[in-house]
Amino acid sequence: MSTTSPRRILVTSALPYANGAIHLGHLLEYIQTDIWVRFQKSRGQHCYYVCADDAHGTAIMLRAEQEGISPEALIERVSDDHQADFARFGVAFDNYHSTHSDENRYYSELIYQRLRDKGHIATREIEQMFDPQKGLFLADRFIKGTCPKCGADDQYGDNCEKCGATYTPAELINPVSAISGATPEVRSSMHYFFKLPDFAEFLQRWINDDHVQPQIRNKLMEWFESGFNEWDISRDAPYFGFEIPDAPGKYFYVWLDAPIGYLASFKNLCEREGIDFDSFWQPSSDAEVYHFIGKDIVYFHALFWPAMLQGADLRTPTAVNCHGFLTVDGAKMSKSRGTFIKAATYADYLNPEYLRYYFAAKLTSKVDDLDLNLDDFAARVNSDLVGKVVNIASRCAGFVKKLGDGRLSAHCSEPQMVARFIAAGEGIAEDFEAREFSRAMRSIMELADEANTYIADKEPWVLAKQQGRDAEVLEICSVGINLFRQLMIYLAPVVPAMAEQARVFLNVDTLDWESRHDLLVDHDINKFKPLMQRIERDKIDAMIDASKEDLVEEAKLKQAPQGPLAETPIAPEISFEDFAKVDLRIARIAKAQYVEGADKLLQLTLDLGGETRNVFSGIRSAYAPEALEGRLTVMVANLAPRKMRFGLSEGMVLASANDDGIYLLSPDSGAEPGQRVT
Ligand code: MSP
Ligand code: ZN
Repeated sequence: MSTTSPRRILVTSALPYANGAIHLGHLLEYIQTDIWVRFQKSRGQHCYYVCADDAHGTAIMLRAEQEGISPEALIERVSDDHQADFARFGVAFDNYHSTHSDENRYYSELIYQRLRDKGHIATREIEQMFDPQKGLFLADRFIKGTCPKCGADDQYGDNCEKCGATYTPAELINPVSAISGATPEVRSSMHYFFKLPDFAEFLQRWINDDHVQPQIRNKLMEWFESGFNEWDISRDAPYFGFEIPDAPGKYFYVWLDAPIGYLASFKNLCEREGIDFDSFWQPSSDAEVYHFIGKDIVYFHALFWPAMLQGADLRTPTAVNCHGFLTVDGAKMSKSRGTFIKAATYADYLNPEYLRYYFAAKLTSKVDDLDLNLDDFAARVNSDLVGKVVNIASRCAGFVKKLGDGRLSAHCSEPQMVARFIAAGEGIAEDFEAREFSRAMRSIMELADEANTYIADKEPWVLAKQQGRDAEVLEICSVGINLFRQLMIYLAPVVPAMAEQARVFLNVDTLDWESRHDLLVDHDINKFKPLMQRIERDKIDAMIDASKEDLVEEAKLKQAPQGPLAETPIAPEISFEDFAKVDLRIARIAKAQYVEGADKLLQLTLDLGGETRNVFSGIRSAYAPEALEGRLTVMVANLAPRKMRFGLSEGMVLASANDDGIYLLSPDSGAEPGQRVT
C-alpha cells in the first residue's frame, strides 16, 4: 500500500449566472467535475470542490428590475434553485457560495489594489453608447439597429447575423436601445483597464507549460499572434457589483470578480473547516488547483485569470480543463424542439444517474462537443448499467440468500479472476485521473462482460437443480458478488446513488478505491433490491414535451413588451420546415358579397390563376364588397376546408386587426394570382 501523503487538490467548476436555470449543458460540466472529484476522494486525496453563483452584472440587475424585486432577492432565489438542481444530480460541492459575498469583495479589492500598486492598471476616457431614458451605458449586445454593410434590420451592436460583418455600435444605422427602445447617445466616461500586455511573456510561457490542453494552447497561440489589448475592467453606475475602491460610481466588471469568486468560496470553506487557505494560494504552494470550464470562457480563464493572479502575487492554476458543448440529437439545444432541457425538468422524469453514466461514457480529455443522442442514451444505459452491471448482482443474490443464508462462501474459487479485476483498477484509475472517462467506462464494461460470461458458462441455475452441488453454486455466486463489488468501486464516482445502494446490499463500510483489495469471504450480504430500472422511451418523450411547456411558461414570465406584442406575444419558434408547410398564394378577389345572417363575414371568390376558392372571411366591418373586387391579397391555400353554417370555407385570407379596424394584406404591384409567397 502506498504511504505517500495525500495530494491536496482544489477543484472548481465555472460559476453559473444567477439569472437562469441550470440546464443539461451546464450539467455536462458539473457532472464531469464531480466525477473527477469523487474519484480523487475515493483515492484518499484531500480534495475540495467549490463553486458559487455568479451574481453580478447588468443582465442580473435588469432581470431583477423586470421581476420587480431587488437583485439580492433574485440571486438568493436563484441560488436556492441552483443548489437544489445540483443536489438532485449528485453534484456534491464542498462549498457553494456567491460572488456577492464579503469574501469576494475582500479578494477583489485586494487583487485590484495589488495590481494597481504595481502599475498594471491604466485609466482613460472611452466613448460608449448611453441610453438616455434608462440612464445606463449600453453594452454592445443591448444595442440593435440596421447593419451598415448589408442593411439587415434588427442586428446586434457588434456584428451582423445576416452578412457576418463586424462593426462598432456607433456605425449601426438607426440604433436603438434594446432595453428601452430609446435612441442611444454617444457619451464618454473614465474607464479602468487591466494592462494584459504587461503579462505577454509570462502568459506565453504559462500556456506552453501544460496548463491547458493542446487544442486550447493552439487557439491561444493564434490569439497571441494577433496581439492583445488592455482589458476594460470597470463599468459605470448603475451596476450590480462591487464599487472600485477610490473610484466612486465605478464598478468592477462582472468578469473581474467572477473568477475571484473561486477564492471567495474556498475562503468561506476554509474558515468553516479550519483549512489553511494561504497554503493553497501562496505562489510556492504545493497544492494543486484545477478549473473545469466550457470552451466559451477560455479567454477569461487562460489569459486574464493567470495574469491577474501572477500580478497579485498569488499562485496560478495547475490546469484549466476545458470541455466542449453539449448538443442534443445532433443539434444545438433548442427551446422549440424541446431539447433545451432544464435540470429540474429532466429529474422530474428520469433518474439523474442515467445522465451521469451517459456523460461519463462519452467524455474524454478533449474539447470536442458531446452529443446526447436520446435513442443511444436509452440503449447505452439499459445495456450497460442495467443489462450488464446490475444483472451480475441480480443473478447471484438469490442463490446466496437461499443456499448460504445470505452469507458468501468462506473460500474464493476463482482467485485469479478476482485478482485480475482488482489489478484492472490501476489502469482505470489512470483513465479517471486523465479525464478519459469514456475509456474508463469501456474497461469497466469489458470486465462486466467477463463476469457475465463467467456466470453464464457456469450456469448456477442448472447446477442448483442437481443434487449435492449447493456448495459449488454458492461459490460461483460468491465470485459473482465479488466481481460486482469491484465494478461498483470503479463506477462509484459516476453513479454515487446506485453505488450507495450497492454498498448497503454488499454490507461493506466503504467502496473506496483501496477497499477493493479485501475479498468478501464468509461475509453476510443484505437483501437484494433492484438497483436501477430500465429507461423507457415514453419517459424521454414526456420530458421533451415538458421542456416545450417550460418555454411557454418562460414566454409568459418575460417582461411584457409594449404595443401589439404585449397582447399577442410572439409564438414559440418554428423551423423552416414548419413554415414551409404553410402554402401562401397570391389571390385575386374575383367576387365579394354579403352573407345572409352573418354580420361579420364576407363571402369571397378567390382566383388563384386557374383555380377558384370559396372563402368566408371576417372582414365585413372594414370593407364594402365592391371595394374589394379585383384586388390582390394573400391567402393560405392549403388550410383544411372548414364547414360553416353558410357553406364550405376553402382557405383563409391574411389580415391584421386592432381596435380601429381590419387590414387586409396586399402584395406589391406586379404579383400574379397563384404565385407562391415565401
Ligand atoms: N458566469 C460565467 C462563468 C464565470 S466563471 C468565473 C458563465 N456562466 S454560464 O452559466 O453561462 O456557464 C457556466 C458553465 O456552463 C460554463 O463553463 C459554460 O461553458 C458551461 N455551459 C453552458 N452551456 C453549455 C453547453 N450547452 N454545453 C456545455 N457546457 C455549457 O459562463
Ligand atoms: Zn449585415
